[in-house]
Amino acid sequence: MKAIILAGGNGTRLAPITTAVNKHLLPVHDKPMIYYPLSVLMLAGIRDILVVCRDCDLTAYQHLLGDGERFGVAISYALQSEPKGIAEALIIGEHFLANGPCCLILGDNFFFGEGLGPKLREAAQLRVGAAVFAYQVADPERFGVISFDEQLRALTIAEKPRHPKSDWAVTGLYFFDHQAPEIARHLRPSSRGELEITSLNRHYLTQNELRVFLLGRGSAWLDMGTSASLQEAGAFVQMIEQRQGLKIACLEEIALKNGWIDADSLKRSLPTRCDSEYYRYVRQLVT
Ligand code: TTP
Repeated sequence: MKAIILAGGNGTRLAPITTAVNKHLLPVHDKPMIYYPLSVLMLAGIRDILVVCRDCDLTAYQHLLGDGERFGVAISYALQSEPKGIAEALIIGEHFLANGPCCLILGDNFFFGEGLGPKLREAAQLRVGAAVFAYQVADPERFGVISFDEQLRALTIAEKPRHPKSDWAVTGLYFFDHQAPEIARHLRPSSRGELEITSLNRHYLTQNELRVFLLGRGSAWLDMGTSASLQEAGAFVQMIEQRQGLKIACLEEIALKNGWIDADSLKRSLPTRCDSEYYRYVRQLVT
């Protein structure tokens, strides 16, 4: 399966922090935000990844991630000139997807929790229909809300409903079969002028082909799009990492564990003069 990370958008809720720096390059404790969604894809076993970003940020992303070889993945890039909606990424990535299934993840979403890896790998087996990951929240009216039956088939999906049918929010992690770009091309822009991912999911729902994966109460999902949630995510990562001495979203570690890189190539790829907390951790993985 291939995947797309959405790293475009203007990040207006974080201005002026995002005036000169794209949101997904901002630090979340000890690494750039985009490392977190990238780690989720790697945990799902996905190695062929398209980063969708703005023209003005392309060089920065290439500088940060390159072609992905260091992490045992293949990263390519595509441009989204204006934030015309999350579903537009499937149209932009149509050629890259080459009529295959895909995973789509928002570049500002943070996922963490025991058992996440197996669930992701199961979702990555999807070949027919679509799947979303849902998370129980105290304030569902602020999110896309999904209700479902006992077999975890979606029943309803609604964007910021006044009277939510459940307290399960749709997170920014989606799996689609090969039809998604074609369906996205036929979507009409919403009143805010965007191709909405909810419209695409609703299309699958009406075909009775939308499956729900639940992220249980032992897991964390945060969107890092406001200064408060950015801070919260950073504090969460710092707390867990300090307590356990293990890193969240260490791309080199995941690549090693997946057998995608070996200790020698990792040693060679490390920056020679860098004594950051992150690279000290990576170095001790191979010494
Ligand atoms: P949003 O948070 O909806 O938009 P944004 O990142 O521009 O932030 P703000 O609302 O503060 O202006 O986007 C969710 C994620 O999807 C985020 O990671 C950016 C990404 N995105 C795109 O890459 N392209 C798009 O057209 C849209 C709408 C979002």
